[in-house]
Amino acid sequence: DWSMEKFVDKEIARIRAMVGEKGQVIGAVSGGVDSTVAAKLMNEAIGDRFHAVLVDNGVLRLEESQTVKETLTKHLGINLTVVDASERFLGLLKGVSDPEKKRKIIGNTFIEVFQETAKKIAEDAHGSSRQGEIEWLLQGTLYPDVIESISFKGPSATIKTHHNVGGLLEGMHLKLIEPLRELFKDEVRALGTNLGIPEDLVWRHPFPGPGLAIRILGEVTKEQLRIAREADKIFIEEIRAAGLYNQISQAFAAVLPVKAVGVMGDKRVHAQVVALRAVETTDFMTADWFPFDGHFLKRVSRRIVNEVDGVCRVLYDVTSKPPGTIEME
Ligand code: XMP
Repeated sequence: DWSMEKFVDKEIARIRAMVGEKGQVIGAVSGGVDSTVAAKLMNEAIGDRFHAVLVDNGVLRLEESQTVKETLTKHLGINLTVVDASERFLGLLKGVSDPEKKRKIIGNTFIEVFQETAKKIAEDAHGSSRQGEIEWLLQGTLYPDVIESISFKGPSATIKTHHNVGGLLEGMHLKLIEPLRELFKDEVRALGTNLGIPEDLVWRHPFPGPGLAIRILGEVTKEQLRIAREADKIFIEEIRAAGLYNQISQAFAAVLPVKAVGVMGDKRVHAQVVALRAVETTDFMTADWFPFDGHFLKRVSRRIVNEVDGVCRVLYDVTSKPPGTIEME
């Protein structure tokens, strides 16, 4: 019979025994529920000997890196380093419009930035009074991820390149620590609540590693990023205001790589098209589009066109998965 308190005590004891009195652990955080719960558990177990790293890859949502930083440091007391690598990522993404290439650039650059940061943190930790080397890498792997990586050896694994830990471990000589590897998502959420993680973070929709880069179809430019950020913020704000956030599994605004004609004020405009996507799913393998009522869509569409410069049309994606995927690239 599974009890939360017993799990926490047992896991903290196991982490302390593994890492020892002086051992140091490093791990990437994204602001999502899995990495935050894993980080908080490490923080409870070994305090500042756990080093969390948040990489700002330039394709995060509006004020996301700032918000995550506040929650993790001020609210949860986690020892966090934020690396602003946005210009580096955006420079490499310049002129690239192929979805797989975009994913690869972001995945590989993330690994490079994380490794460079880990090296710096290790040198600082070693130079200071704390003596242990960084020997461990934290990964917020859940039980379903463990199963998926065992059973997905076929071509389905390469349908999309998902960011994984393999690249991080290569050349870093770190041992892997995975405190959530026996848990399902609902158990991770319960654990998060138990550890004092704010409810809106515990119930946050998943956000993909390649971020807004796969929600901006075609080339990622600063202008498209601004549109994606502003439109997404309005959409999510309205979803929350309507009390629908927890009924929806994932929702976002995407920017299409085309312009359409519209009339705004008394002028004809030629401007960007935004597509909204919202799905319900239990396992993210299949999904159905969320049946908003017309009034809701009307309100969101009016706000996006009025408040986001450079947008003259809003579409709602009514494709299920399959054949559509949840993300648009
Ligand atoms: P798709 O688009 O394949 O997405 O239906 C299924 C779920 O996976 C997320 N996703 C990703 N997450 N790195 C991630 O961390 C990725 O490259 C990636 N691609 C898709 C997607 O947001 C959805 O929750």
